[in-house]
Parts: sequence; structure tokens; C-alpha cells
Amino acid sequence: MIAPSLLSANFANLEKDMQMLNTSQADWIHLDIMDGVFVPNISFGLPVVSAINKLTTKPLDVHLMIVNPENYFEAFAKAGAQYISFHIEGSTHVHRSIQEIKKLGAKAGIVLNPHSPVMLLEDSIDYLDYVLLMSVNPGFGGQKFIEHTYKKIEQLKTLIKQRNASTLIQVDGGVNTENAKALYAAGADILVAGNAVFSADDPSKAIAQIRNAKSI
Ligand code: DX5
Ligand code: ZN
Repeated sequence: MIAPSLLSANFANLEKDMQMLNTSQADWIHLDIMDGVFVPNISFGLPVVSAINKLTTKPLDVHLMIVNPENYFEAFAKAGAQYISFHIEGSTHVHRSIQEIKKLGAKAGIVLNPHSPVMLLEDSIDYLDYVLLMSVNPGFGGQKFIEHTYKKIEQLKTLIKQRNASTLIQVDGGVNTENAKALYAAGADILVAGNAVFSADDPSKAIAQIRNAKSI
């Protein structure tokens, strides 16, 4: 599956980019929420998520790069988020947060920064709908993919299989038409792509190419 990241879209004409996404093969729409504290950048917030929700029937996948993410789960669920992920590095009560997201009717995901080991998830993997492995340091689009991510995908896949869990593996940062096939082969289920989609001559085609890289 593919979740195009709106961070690289044209913010002055989001409706046009949403129309492209609606007719594309995009599975989820990835929305990056940055607060300028947890990450050194500020993106957009609740009113923009609500506005986007009115423009699409595709599931909204909200990636929270903010401090105290638990204070905002309900607001983002109300704004239309069907998938909500938060960073393990910014959360003290991970188990409670997962339960809260699920209680709101959304799917719950944990995000690991490049330096956070997969073994941190050993005691939460059974409760997680998905895990987002950052393959760049969060905060900006268009960065270079960190190769060590392949090893983490394999470790995470092994953990999921050992536990007989149905957790999905999402990879975010530096994904493109060149590395998509290898990422699926390593065990990724859903790839996030911003720059590779929105800087392409034909974004819809880039979405299809990344999504279907497995079979090419
Ligand atoms: C980075 C964000 C990503 C970003 C990916 O902090 O989490 O979702 O939009 O952008 P690309 O695909 O350009 O690396
Ligand atoms: Zn993201």
C-alpha cells in the first residue's frame, strides 16, 4: 500500500492535490503534524485536517510529531483521523495512549525514530495496529533514506511473526520508485512518500509505481 504525504503538496491549492489523490491509487492520506518543539519544524494543525477530511473519502493517517500527543488524540479523531500514530520517544504512557486511540474508534500506531530499536516494542506489539519506522529524522520532506531501516523492517517482521500479530509495518522518509520494491521485499506493508510523489512530473503515476513496485 501507499500513503502519499501531503507535506510536499501545494499548500496554496490543496484542493487540486486532493483531487489528484482521490483519483489515484493512494490507500491512505498521510498527514504530518509538527509542533516546532518535538521536531524543528511546524506544519499544519486541526483546521487543515478537518478541511482535508471534507475533500476525500480515503482514510486519513495522522502522524503526530508533537509533545504530549495524548492531549490531542480526541481532537484529531474528531477532525477525521482514522489512523493515529505517535512517537515512542515523546510518550511516557504508551500502553494507555494505544488504548485511548482505539477507544476513539481509530487505529493506533507507534513511531520509532531512526535511533530507537525495534526491541522497544516487545511489550506493545500485540496491541498495535501498525508501527511506523522513520527512515529519516522527522521534521522535513525530501531527505535521504537511511539504509539501516531495512534491518529494522526485518527485525520488526520477525517480532510480528513470532507473536502471530497482524501489525502493519509503515516506512516513512526518503521512499521513492527506486527503493520501494526492496522495502516491500524486506517486509514493509505501507510506504509513505512525499517528495517522490509531489515532485514527479506525473504524481498519480508515481503513486501507482511505488504502490505496485512489488509486482514490477
Ligand atoms: C518527515 C515526515 C514524512 C515526510 C516524508 O518528518 O514524517 O512523512 O513527509 O517526506 P519524503 O517522502 O519527502 O521523505
Ligand atoms: Zn510522516
